Order: sequence, then structure tokens, then C-alpha cells
Amino acid sequence: MKTTISIALLTSLLALSPAAHANFSVNVGAININPDNSSSSINEAPTLGLKGDSDTQLGITVDYAFNDKWVLELIASTPFSHDVNGTGGLAGNKIADIKQLPPSLIAQYHFLDTSYALRPFVGVGINYTIFFDEQPSQALKTTLGTDDVEVKLDNSFGFVAQVGANYKINKKWGLHAMVSLMDIDTDATVYANGAKALTSTVELDPIVAMFGVRYSF
Ligand code: NI
Repeated sequence: MKTTISIALLTSLLALSPAAHANFSVNVGAININPDNSSSSINEAPTLGLKGDSDTQLGITVDYAFNDKWVLELIASTPFSHDVNGTGGLAGNKIADIKQLPPSLIAQYHFLDTSYALRPFVGVGINYTIFFDEQPSQALKTTLGTDDVEVKLDNSFGFVAQVGANYKINKKWGLHAMVSLMDIDTDATVYANGAKALTSTVELDPIVAMFGVRYSF
């Protein structure tokens, strides 16, 4: 889905004065991004489409606790690599390799009080996905009849919904688990001999899941 984003919630969170005991936590672990690819088509043709495969990388998230209930989380990771494959009439053809970074900023509400070891949370936020190093496949070059092929994916700005939980082992160490639904839509353009050959809106809309170790400062 294309979403018009309101960042009013994040802005109002940032405007809150930090609590005296405000603290940072860092979560490090495996982060997996699994694209949903429900409705991508090429040149508006429903029988031709593109879909990306899943990838796992090193995830690093930083939590800033405004108070016992409200936390701002920044999600970062090492770059994800995806094969972009054809669907419909293009099924079985790899179109390109791409890389992407999907940094996200999320406002979390944490349930229960700090005496509980296991505390679930829900969050909403924004995602900015940067696509880079798009490499056209040999199959695409052969199909287009030229080696002068470029694939370009536009960067994406979208909405994030999140659920998760933190588990406290002791004052400093714990575990962190989260699942986020990210609205990541990009316009893909293929150029052959410098001219626009194909266009497609690729709706990755991935489920992003992370499990890691948590350290609080
Ligand atoms: Ni979408």
C-alpha cells in the first residue's frame, strides 16, 4: 500500500522532556527481511511481475527510553541483498541483484511495569529504504539483446508497525525480539542502451524479524 505518513506521534514524542533516568539500550542479533511482494507488475501488465527473496543480516537497534513506558527505537543493519525474480510470464528468470538498507525510527509503548522480566511492546514508525548496487542479470541482458542494461530502484519512504518483547536477565543484559511490518514500495526502471525499457512498481512490504542480545547502559 502507498501510505501518506503522519509523523505527528514521533514529533510529539521528541518534544517530551526526557525523564531523569532516561537510558540507552543496544540490541544486536540476526535480522531477517522477508518481502511479501503481493502485487508487483511490469509496465502495468498483470501477467508480468517482479518479486524479491528474503535475506538475513546483522541487526543493530538502539533504544532510547523516555520513561518506563515510551521508547524510541532506531533500527539499523548491515545491507540486505536480494535476488529480484520474475513472476507470471517472467517466472524462473532472475532480473537483477539488488542491495538495500532500511533504517527505521519507531515509537514503542511498553506494557507492564519494570518489575516484570518479560515486557511486551507495540510500536509505530517510519522507514526510509535506500536501494543501491542494482546489477542486471545476464538473462535480462540476453532478453533485451544488449549488455548496456541498467536497473534503478527508487528509494522508499513508508510506515512501520511493530510488536515485540524485551526479556531482562539482569540489570544490564537481556534479550530482544521484534517483528515489524514495513511498507516498502519502489519504482523499478530498466534502461536498455540508455532508453527506458521496462517499469514496475515493486511492493516489497516485508515482514522484518529480529532476535538478539540486549545491553542497557
Ligand atoms: Ni505497500
